[in-house]
Amino acid sequence: MTDFQTLFGHPPAASAHAPGRVNLIGEHTDYNGGYVLPSAIPQRTRVELAVRPDRSVQVYSDAPETGGEVVGYELGRETPQRAWHDYVQGVTSLLGSEGLSLPGLDIAVRSTVPVGSGLSSSAALTVSLLRGLRALLHLPLDDVLIARLGQRVENEFVGAQVGIMDPMAASLADERTALFLDARSLDYERVPLPAGAELVVIHSGVAHDHAAGDYNARRRECEQAAALLGVKQLRDIPAAEAGRADALPEPLDCRARHVITENQRVLEAVAAMRGGDVERLGALFNASHDSQRDDYAVSVLAIDRLVDLARSDEAVLGARLTGGGFGGSIVVLARAGCGRAVADHVASEFKARWGGSPRVLVPAG
Ligand code: GLA
Repeated sequence: MTDFQTLFGHPPAASAHAPGRVNLIGEHTDYNGGYVLPSAIPQRTRVELAVRPDRSVQVYSDAPETGGEVVGYELGRETPQRAWHDYVQGVTSLLGSEGLSLPGLDIAVRSTVPVGSGLSSSAALTVSLLRGLRALLHLPLDDVLIARLGQRVENEFVGAQVGIMDPMAASLADERTALFLDARSLDYERVPLPAGAELVVIHSGVAHDHAAGDYNARRRECEQAAALLGVKQLRDIPAAEAGRADALPEPLDCRARHVITENQRVLEAVAAMRGGDVERLGALFNASHDSQRDDYAVSVLAIDRLVDLARSDEAVLGARLTGGGFGGSIVVLARAGCGRAVADHVASEFKARWGGSPRVLVPAG
Protein backbone atom coordinates (compact mmCIF):
# COMPACT_ATOMS: atom_id res chain seq x y z
CA MET A 1 0.00 0.00 0.00
CA THR A 2 1.34 3.40 -0.91
CA ASP A 3 -1.37 5.76 0.25
CA PHE A 4 -0.16 8.75 2.21
CA GLN A 5 -1.46 7.45 5.56
CA THR A 6 0.36 4.14 5.12
CA LEU A 7 3.57 5.80 3.96
CA PHE A 8 3.80 8.44 6.66
CA GLY A 9 1.42 7.40 9.45
CA HIS A 10 -0.87 10.42 9.15
CA PRO A 11 -3.16 11.93 6.51
CA PRO A 12 -2.03 14.67 4.08
CA ALA A 13 -2.83 18.27 5.03
CA ALA A 14 -2.85 19.66 1.48
CA SER A 15 -2.85 18.47 -2.11
CA ALA A 16 -2.44 19.96 -5.57
CA HIS A 17 -1.95 18.94 -9.17
CA ALA A 18 -0.65 20.25 -12.48
CA PRO A 19 -0.89 18.91 -16.03
CA GLY A 20 1.70 17.84 -18.56
CA ARG A 21 1.71 19.87 -21.76
CA VAL A 22 1.91 19.36 -25.47
CA ASN A 23 3.43 22.19 -27.45
CA LEU A 24 1.47 22.71 -30.67
CA ILE A 25 4.16 24.81 -32.33
CA GLY A 26 6.98 27.18 -31.37
CA GLU A 27 9.85 24.84 -30.49
CA HIS A 28 13.14 26.10 -29.05
CA THR A 29 11.81 29.62 -29.36
CA ASP A 30 11.19 30.32 -25.66
CA TYR A 31 14.82 30.72 -24.61
CA ASN A 32 15.29 32.93 -27.66
CA GLY A 33 12.67 35.34 -26.32
CA GLY A 34 10.05 34.18 -28.85
CA TYR A 35 6.56 32.71 -29.05
CA VAL A 36 5.16 29.32 -28.02
CA LEU A 37 1.73 27.67 -28.17
CA PRO A 38 1.33 24.84 -25.61
CA SER A 39 -1.85 23.19 -24.40
CA ALA A 40 -2.48 21.02 -21.33
CA ILE A 41 -2.84 17.25 -21.70
CA PRO A 42 -5.05 15.02 -19.53
CA GLN A 43 -2.02 13.41 -17.84
CA ARG A 44 -1.19 15.10 -14.53
CA THR A 45 1.09 15.08 -11.54
CA ARG A 46 -0.55 15.11 -8.12
CA VAL A 47 1.13 15.85 -4.82
CA GLU A 48 -0.03 15.38 -1.26
CA LEU A 49 1.85 17.02 1.60
CA ALA A 50 1.97 17.44 5.35
CA VAL A 51 4.28 19.18 7.80
CA ARG A 52 6.54 16.92 9.85
CA PRO A 53 8.12 17.77 13.19
CA ASP A 54 11.81 17.59 12.20
CA ARG A 55 13.89 19.46 9.56
CA SER A 56 13.79 16.71 6.96
CA VAL A 57 11.85 16.18 3.75
CA GLN A 58 10.63 12.67 3.01
CA VAL A 59 9.43 12.10 -0.55
CA TYR A 60 7.67 9.20 -2.18
CA SER A 61 7.03 8.93 -5.91
CA ASP A 62 5.04 6.28 -7.75
CA ALA A 63 7.26 6.64 -10.86
CA PRO A 64 8.57 3.15 -11.74
CA GLU A 65 12.18 4.38 -11.95
CA THR A 66 12.15 5.37 -8.25
CA GLY A 67 11.53 1.82 -7.07
CA GLY A 68 8.84 3.01 -4.67
CA GLU A 69 11.43 4.06 -2.07
CA VAL A 70 10.85 7.05 0.21
CA VAL A 71 13.87 9.35 -0.21
CA GLY A 72 14.89 11.72 2.56
CA TYR A 73 17.08 14.82 2.87
CA GLU A 74 17.66 17.67 5.31
CA LEU A 75 16.34 21.17 4.57
CA GLY A 76 19.23 23.50 3.81
CA ARG A 77 21.44 20.59 2.71
CA GLU A 78 19.92 19.98 -0.71
CA THR A 79 22.45 18.55 -3.18
CA PRO A 80 21.78 17.72 -6.85
CA GLN A 81 22.12 13.99 -7.46
CA ARG A 82 20.86 13.60 -11.01
CA ALA A 83 17.86 11.84 -9.53
CA TRP A 84 14.11 12.46 -9.84
CA HIS A 85 13.90 14.06 -6.41
CA ASP A 86 16.31 16.81 -7.53
CA TYR A 87 13.18 18.67 -8.62
CA VAL A 88 11.80 18.44 -5.08
CA GLN A 89 15.14 19.36 -3.55
CA GLY A 90 15.38 22.24 -6.03
CA VAL A 91 12.02 23.63 -4.91
CA THR A 92 12.84 23.57 -1.19
CA SER A 93 16.36 24.87 -1.82
CA LEU A 94 15.08 27.78 -3.92
CA LEU A 95 12.34 28.75 -1.47
CA GLY A 96 14.92 28.57 1.33
CA SER A 97 17.30 30.83 -0.57
CA GLU A 98 14.42 33.27 -1.11
CA GLY A 99 14.21 33.62 2.68
CA LEU A 100 11.30 31.29 3.40
CA SER A 101 11.74 29.16 6.46
CA LEU A 102 10.13 25.89 5.44
CA PRO A 103 9.07 23.23 7.95
CA GLY A 104 9.95 19.55 7.49
CA LEU A 105 7.66 17.89 4.95
CA ASP A 106 6.19 14.55 4.01
CA ILE A 107 5.41 14.49 0.29
CA ALA A 108 3.80 11.87 -1.96
CA VAL A 109 3.96 12.35 -5.73
CA ARG A 110 1.83 10.44 -8.21
CA SER A 111 2.06 11.16 -11.90
CA THR A 112 0.62 9.96 -15.17
CA VAL A 113 2.95 12.21 -17.22
CA PRO A 114 5.65 9.88 -18.57
CA VAL A 115 9.22 10.95 -17.72
CA GLY A 116 11.35 11.84 -20.77
CA SER A 117 8.30 11.98 -23.06
CA GLY A 118 8.74 15.61 -24.11
CA LEU A 119 5.48 16.38 -22.32
CA SER A 120 7.06 18.20 -19.44
CA SER A 121 6.85 15.83 -16.51
CA SER A 122 9.43 18.00 -14.74
CA ALA A 123 7.35 21.20 -14.89
CA ALA A 124 4.23 19.26 -13.87
CA LEU A 125 6.20 18.14 -10.80
CA THR A 126 7.66 21.51 -9.79
CA VAL A 127 4.40 23.40 -10.44
CA SER A 128 2.24 20.87 -8.59
CA LEU A 129 4.67 20.92 -5.67
CA LEU A 130 4.78 24.72 -5.54
CA ARG A 131 0.97 24.76 -5.67
CA GLY A 132 0.86 22.23 -2.87
CA LEU A 133 3.24 24.30 -0.74
CA ARG A 134 1.19 27.41 -1.49
CA ALA A 135 -1.90 25.63 -0.17
CA LEU A 136 -0.15 24.04 2.81
CA LEU A 137 1.76 27.11 4.00
CA HIS A 138 -0.48 29.90 2.61
CA LEU A 139 2.38 31.27 0.51
CA PRO A 140 1.65 34.44 -1.51
CA LEU A 141 2.60 32.95 -4.90
CA ASP A 142 0.62 33.75 -8.06
CA ASP A 143 0.56 31.42 -11.07
CA VAL A 144 3.19 33.33 -13.06
CA LEU A 145 5.52 33.50 -10.09
CA ILE A 146 5.10 29.74 -9.62
CA ALA A 147 6.14 29.26 -13.27
CA ARG A 148 9.17 31.50 -12.83
CA LEU A 149 10.23 29.56 -9.72
CA GLY A 150 9.73 26.28 -11.59
CA GLN A 151 12.08 27.44 -14.34
CA ARG A 152 14.68 28.58 -11.80
CA VAL A 153 14.62 25.14 -10.14
CA GLU A 154 15.61 23.55 -13.46
CA ASN A 155 18.15 26.25 -14.40
CA GLU A 156 19.80 26.78 -11.03
CA PHE A 157 19.50 23.41 -9.30
CA VAL A 158 18.91 20.61 -11.82
CA GLY A 159 21.23 22.11 -14.45
CA ALA A 160 18.85 22.11 -17.43
CA GLN A 161 18.93 25.52 -19.12
CA VAL A 162 15.27 25.25 -20.15
CA GLY A 163 13.01 28.16 -21.03
CA ILE A 164 9.81 29.38 -19.40
CA MET A 165 7.31 27.54 -21.65
CA ASP A 166 6.82 24.36 -19.66
CA PRO A 167 6.21 25.80 -16.19
CA MET A 168 3.97 28.49 -17.72
CA ALA A 169 1.97 25.77 -19.46
CA ALA A 170 1.77 23.61 -16.32
CA SER A 171 0.68 26.65 -14.33
CA LEU A 172 -1.68 28.37 -16.78
CA ALA A 173 -2.74 26.13 -19.69
CA ASP A 174 -5.94 24.11 -19.99
CA GLU A 175 -7.05 21.34 -22.34
CA ARG A 176 -9.57 23.33 -24.38
CA THR A 177 -7.24 26.15 -25.40
CA ALA A 178 -3.63 26.73 -26.39
CA LEU A 179 -1.61 29.22 -24.40
CA PHE A 180 -0.20 31.75 -26.88
CA LEU A 181 2.73 33.02 -24.87
CA ASP A 182 5.33 35.66 -25.53
CA ALA A 183 8.24 34.11 -23.65
CA ARG A 184 9.98 37.48 -23.30
CA SER A 185 7.20 39.63 -21.85
CA LEU A 186 5.19 36.67 -20.47
CA ASP A 187 2.06 38.21 -22.01
CA TYR A 188 -0.32 35.39 -22.85
CA GLU A 189 -3.68 34.72 -24.37
CA ARG A 190 -5.74 31.53 -24.48
CA VAL A 191 -6.70 30.59 -28.04
CA PRO A 192 -9.48 27.96 -28.40
CA LEU A 193 -8.48 24.77 -30.23
CA PRO A 194 -10.20 24.73 -33.64
CA ALA A 195 -13.42 22.71 -33.89
CA GLY A 196 -12.42 21.09 -37.19
CA ALA A 197 -9.43 19.22 -35.80
CA GLU A 198 -8.25 17.23 -32.81
CA LEU A 199 -4.87 16.54 -31.31
CA VAL A 200 -3.12 13.19 -31.09
CA VAL A 201 0.00 12.71 -28.98
CA ILE A 202 2.20 9.61 -29.31
CA HIS A 203 5.28 8.95 -27.19
CA SER A 204 8.04 7.36 -29.27
CA GLY A 205 9.26 5.31 -26.31
CA VAL A 206 12.68 6.98 -26.68
CA ALA A 207 13.27 9.00 -23.50
CA HIS A 208 15.32 12.19 -23.42
CA ASP A 209 17.10 14.03 -20.61
CA HIS A 210 17.54 17.77 -21.02
CA ALA A 211 20.14 18.01 -18.28
CA ALA A 212 22.30 15.65 -20.36
CA GLY A 213 23.85 18.25 -22.65
CA ASP A 214 22.34 18.38 -26.15
CA TYR A 215 19.61 20.81 -25.15
CA ASN A 216 22.05 23.12 -23.39
CA ALA A 217 24.32 22.95 -26.46
CA ARG A 218 21.49 24.18 -28.72
CA ARG A 219 20.85 27.02 -26.35
CA ARG A 220 24.51 28.08 -26.47
CA GLU A 221 24.49 27.95 -30.27
CA CYS A 222 21.53 30.34 -30.33
CA GLU A 223 23.30 32.73 -27.98
CA GLN A 224 26.38 32.69 -30.22
CA ALA A 225 24.23 33.26 -33.31
CA ALA A 226 22.44 36.21 -31.69
CA ALA A 227 25.75 37.76 -30.62
CA LEU A 228 27.21 37.41 -34.13
CA LEU A 229 24.08 38.96 -35.63
CA GLY A 230 24.27 41.85 -33.17
CA VAL A 231 20.93 41.27 -31.47
CA LYS A 232 20.05 40.52 -27.86
CA GLN A 233 18.07 37.39 -28.77
CA LEU A 234 17.09 35.69 -32.04
CA ARG A 235 13.57 36.91 -31.38
CA ASP A 236 14.80 40.34 -32.43
CA ILE A 237 15.23 39.24 -36.06
CA PRO A 238 11.92 39.53 -37.93
CA ALA A 239 10.92 36.77 -40.35
CA ALA A 240 11.38 39.11 -43.31
CA GLU A 241 15.08 39.28 -42.41
CA ALA A 242 15.59 35.51 -41.98
CA GLY A 243 18.18 35.67 -44.78
CA ARG A 244 20.59 37.34 -42.36
CA ALA A 245 21.15 33.89 -40.84
CA ASP A 246 22.87 32.77 -44.06
CA ALA A 247 25.93 34.84 -43.17
CA LEU A 248 26.59 32.80 -40.02
CA PRO A 249 29.07 29.91 -39.87
CA GLU A 250 27.66 26.36 -39.78
CA PRO A 251 25.72 25.14 -37.86
CA LEU A 252 24.72 28.49 -36.39
CA ASP A 253 23.10 29.51 -39.70
CA CYS A 254 20.70 26.55 -39.54
CA ARG A 255 19.96 26.99 -35.85
CA ALA A 256 19.13 30.67 -36.31
CA ARG A 257 17.03 29.98 -39.42
CA HIS A 258 14.91 27.51 -37.45
CA VAL A 259 14.27 29.91 -34.59
CA ILE A 260 13.47 32.91 -36.80
CA THR A 261 11.08 30.99 -39.05
CA GLU A 262 9.53 29.08 -36.14
CA ASN A 263 8.55 32.31 -34.41
CA GLN A 264 6.73 33.36 -37.56
CA ARG A 265 5.01 29.96 -37.75
CA VAL A 266 3.59 30.46 -34.26
CA LEU A 267 2.04 33.78 -35.28
CA GLU A 268 0.61 32.18 -38.41
CA ALA A 269 -0.68 29.19 -36.42
CA VAL A 270 -2.54 31.49 -34.04
CA ALA A 271 -4.12 33.27 -37.02
CA ALA A 272 -5.07 29.89 -38.57
CA MET A 273 -6.64 28.74 -35.28
CA ARG A 274 -8.61 31.93 -34.96
CA GLY A 275 -9.81 31.61 -38.54
CA GLY A 276 -10.64 27.89 -38.16
CA ASP A 277 -8.20 27.10 -41.01
CA VAL A 278 -7.11 23.62 -39.95
CA GLU A 279 -5.46 22.83 -43.31
CA ARG A 280 -3.12 25.78 -42.85
CA LEU A 281 -2.47 24.82 -39.24
CA GLY A 282 -1.53 21.31 -40.35
CA ALA A 283 0.83 22.67 -43.01
CA LEU A 284 2.53 24.76 -40.31
CA PHE A 285 2.94 21.65 -38.11
CA ASN A 286 4.68 19.94 -41.04
CA ALA A 287 6.94 22.90 -41.79
CA SER A 288 7.87 23.12 -38.10
CA HIS A 289 8.88 19.47 -37.97
CA ASP A 290 10.97 19.70 -41.13
CA SER A 291 12.76 22.71 -39.69
CA GLN A 292 13.43 20.93 -36.39
CA ARG A 293 14.73 17.88 -38.24
CA ASP A 294 16.84 19.59 -40.89
CA ASP A 295 17.93 22.91 -39.35
CA TYR A 296 17.74 22.44 -35.60
CA ALA A 297 18.78 18.76 -35.63
CA VAL A 298 16.74 17.73 -32.59
CA SER A 299 14.77 14.86 -34.10
CA VAL A 300 15.68 11.17 -33.96
CA LEU A 301 14.88 8.23 -36.23
CA ALA A 302 11.89 6.92 -34.23
CA ILE A 303 10.31 10.38 -34.21
CA ASP A 304 10.81 10.91 -37.95
CA ARG A 305 9.27 7.51 -38.60
CA LEU A 306 6.24 8.31 -36.46
CA VAL A 307 5.81 11.68 -38.18
CA ASP A 308 6.07 10.12 -41.66
CA LEU A 309 3.59 7.38 -40.76
CA ALA A 310 1.14 9.96 -39.41
CA ARG A 311 1.47 12.11 -42.51
CA SER A 312 0.67 9.13 -44.72
CA ASP A 313 -2.79 8.87 -43.07
CA GLU A 314 -5.36 10.83 -45.06
CA ALA A 315 -7.15 11.98 -41.91
CA VAL A 316 -3.96 13.77 -40.80
CA LEU A 317 -3.50 17.49 -41.45
CA GLY A 318 0.04 17.71 -40.08
CA ALA A 319 2.48 16.11 -37.64
CA ARG A 320 5.61 17.17 -35.80
CA LEU A 321 8.02 16.47 -32.96
CA THR A 322 6.82 18.24 -29.80
CA GLY A 323 8.96 19.35 -26.86
CA GLY A 324 12.71 19.54 -26.53
CA GLY A 325 13.51 16.62 -28.85
CA PHE A 326 16.28 13.98 -28.84
CA GLY A 327 13.41 11.51 -28.29
CA GLY A 328 10.02 12.19 -26.74
CA SER A 329 6.68 12.53 -28.52
CA ILE A 330 4.96 13.67 -31.68
CA VAL A 331 1.83 15.81 -31.89
CA VAL A 332 -0.53 15.17 -34.77
CA LEU A 333 -3.33 17.39 -36.03
CA ALA A 334 -6.08 15.04 -37.18
CA ARG A 335 -9.45 15.86 -38.68
CA ALA A 336 -12.14 16.11 -35.99
CA GLY A 337 -13.53 12.68 -35.11
CA CYS A 338 -10.52 10.81 -36.50
CA GLY A 339 -8.04 11.12 -33.61
CA ARG A 340 -8.55 7.67 -32.10
CA ALA A 341 -8.29 5.85 -35.43
CA VAL A 342 -5.20 7.83 -36.46
CA ALA A 343 -3.47 7.22 -33.13
CA ASP A 344 -4.14 3.48 -33.16
CA HIS A 345 -3.10 3.15 -36.79
CA VAL A 346 0.20 5.02 -36.36
CA ALA A 347 1.17 3.18 -33.17
CA SER A 348 0.31 -0.29 -34.46
CA GLU A 349 1.91 0.27 -37.86
CA PHE A 350 5.09 1.51 -36.16
CA LYS A 351 5.24 -1.60 -33.96
CA ALA A 352 4.59 -3.89 -36.90
CA ARG A 353 7.40 -2.33 -38.96
CA TRP A 354 10.06 -1.51 -36.41
CA GLY A 355 9.02 -2.95 -33.02
CA GLY A 356 9.67 -0.66 -30.08
CA SER A 357 7.05 0.67 -27.73
CA PRO A 358 5.25 3.78 -29.01
CA ARG A 359 2.47 4.80 -26.67
CA VAL A 360 -0.67 6.80 -27.43
CA LEU A 361 -1.19 9.44 -24.75
CA VAL A 362 -3.85 11.60 -26.44
CA PRO A 363 -6.64 10.72 -26.87
CA ALA A 364 -6.29 9.34 -23.35
CA GLY A 365 -7.79 6.05 -22.21
C1 GLA B 1 11.91 21.84 -23.40
C2 GLA B 1 12.14 23.07 -22.54
C3 GLA B 1 11.32 24.25 -23.04
C4 GLA B 1 11.48 24.47 -24.53
C5 GLA B 1 11.32 23.16 -25.28
C6 GLA B 1 11.61 23.29 -26.75
O1 GLA B 1 10.61 21.37 -23.24
O2 GLA B 1 11.78 22.79 -21.22
O3 GLA B 1 11.69 25.41 -22.32
O4 GLA B 1 12.71 25.07 -24.82
O5 GLA B 1 12.15 22.13 -24.76
O6 GLA B 1 10.67 24.11 -27.34
